Amino acid sequence: MTDTPSAPSNTVYVLNGPNLNLLGLREPEIYGSDTLDDIAGMLEDKAREHGLTIEMRQTNYEGMLVDWLHEAQAEGARAVLLNAAAYTHTSIALLDAIRAITTPVIEVHLSDPKTREDFRHLSYVGMAAAKTIEGHGAASYTIALDAVINGEV
Ligand code: DQA
Repeated sequence: MTDTPSAPSNTVYVLNGPNLNLLGLREPEIYGSDTLDDIAGMLEDKAREHGLTIEMRQTNYEGMLVDWLHEAQAEGARAVLLNAAAYTHTSIALLDAIRAITTPVIEVHLSDPKTREDFRHLSYVGMAAAKTIEGHGAASYTIALDAVINGEV
């Protein structure tokens, strides 16, 4: 059972899926040269200015992302920025997890999957996410955080 949500805290969970640990090295012509640590630094700087805290995580395991979404709800996270990477296009478990929680989830992608291979056009995450930000490289993450700061979700 999902825990009862707590009152919203100042923490924004930033959950990253498979292969994003290789960001900076992995297909830089598509994903850019910033590493996940670089992105964490950008988010932390912006969050600090607005009294928010970033909880940055990465996993290559689908179920871990499900557990972390449940945790975000149980901990009363303000919002979740979720780059589920390839699981975006395959995971009904993530769709269900996002629907199971009341914490707003923003779908984030560095690239624009809609302009890439056909198999990336379907997004299970996008079916449940409050908003989607994609195609801006590392800035997709900071734009998504701005949406949280501006109360758009
Ligand atoms: C991605 C896009 C996905 O299609 C891909 O599987 C990824 C990264 C992005 O951030 O552009 O791993 O989520």
